[in-house]
Amino acid sequence: MKRHVFGAAVAALLFVGGVETAAAAEITITSGSAGQDFEIFKKLINEWSAKTGNTVKLFNTPNSTTDTLALLRQQFGAKSSEIDVLMVDVIWPGVIKQHLMDLKPYTKGSEKNHFPAIVANNTINGKLLAMPWYIDAGLLYYRKDLLDKYKKPVPATWEEMRATAQKIQDAERKAGNKEMQGYVFQGKTYEGLTCNALEWVSSYKGGSVIEGNGKITIDNPQAVKALDMAASWIGTISPRNVLSYTEEEARGVFQNGNSIFMRNWPYAWSLAQKDDSKVKGKVGVAALPKGGVDGQSAASLGGWSLAISKYSKHPAEAADLLLYLTSKEGQKRRAIQGSYNPTIPELYSDAEVLKAVPFASSLYEVFTHTVARPSTVTGEKYNEASGAFWNAAYATLSGKNKGTDSVKKLSGDLAHIRRGDKW
Ligand code: GLC
Repeated sequence: MKRHVFGAAVAALLFVGGVETAAAAEITITSGSAGQDFEIFKKLINEWSAKTGNTVKLFNTPNSTTDTLALLRQQFGAKSSEIDVLMVDVIWPGVIKQHLMDLKPYTKGSEKNHFPAIVANNTINGKLLAMPWYIDAGLLYYRKDLLDKYKKPVPATWEEMRATAQKIQDAERKAGNKEMQGYVFQGKTYEGLTCNALEWVSSYKGGSVIEGNGKITIDNPQAVKALDMAASWIGTISPRNVLSYTEEEARGVFQNGNSIFMRNWPYAWSLAQKDDSKVKGKVGVAALPKGGVDGQSAASLGGWSLAISKYSKHPAEAADLLLYLTSKEGQKRRAIQGSYNPTIPELYSDAEVLKAVPFASSLYEVFTHTVARPSTVTGEKYNEASGAFWNAAYATLSGKNKGTDSVKKLSGDLAHIRRGDKW
């Protein structure tokens, strides 16, 4: 139907291809840059544009979540309306809550289709600040072909992982594979190291640094054991420059065929299976090893949601885009193309998803029993607290401090950041 309009109230109407629509908005959304994040984003976004007539600009963020947070804080500090929709790390809602819009008026209750724990994580004072988008959990990637060649099982404990890595690394180097490493992970001073170190500490049953009640528990013998163990890898099964690796550097080494084991998130799976991957068809994925036979396997809970900036000038269009991307169909597509694990439980029994991400069902337990970083209890101070933890882990890994000194100092640093009894 065409209407002839002259009034100011309807001046915002445009005719697009003969169809009357509201004036098209330009929406800017942040996109991750690891692996194929950007490419997959682009496809879905173009579809939404074609459907709605709005245009979307992608705002590419740095690879490290820590750098991205710093950048967003600058934008928020200036109350900039440049970014409408943003990807929000699972640890951020408490840190940036005052800059995010309540999504409840737009979602019509559809958050009920997602894992309740993530919805709870994103809800502060009754406001839904972000819609779940995908779940991350730390995983152990291994070279199936090399474990078969040396007749070794997938390691159940870190001790076993170390022994297997050393043995295969030595033998492969002797056979001419000079670049071969035993284990690569995220050792740089940033949030990724917090995730790795939390897994080590938790796997030895050394707690989660700061507990849900706010208590600082990192100064304990199991945590010391975990950190000293990880330090023993440096220069033996892990190259010294693992101390500058984020997820992408670790993936680069592993995907080039130069490491037996790797700690990474699910996104590395679909990339390892691509035609240009040197390890295509040779990779297995398992739960991370336990800290000793009495320990437990622990995977840090990671993942991202989508939120709308309070300073957006187009909240309604931004919400429409956000709901399109986080919907069942949107998440299914990302799961199939990029092995991003959905936040909608129903998709874990979808045949196409399971084919693309085989470990989504076999490691379902890993995804549903993760260790959360202490972001809820520390609220706005999370980033500072996490920084103290990654620095302590780094000091131990780099040989500057023994585990026992690191955790003692860290405990004091955290108490200082907390200032008083409450976070
Ligand atoms: C992944 C996780 C995120 C975590 C980050 C650390 O992106 O999804 O939660 O903070 O890695 O590097």
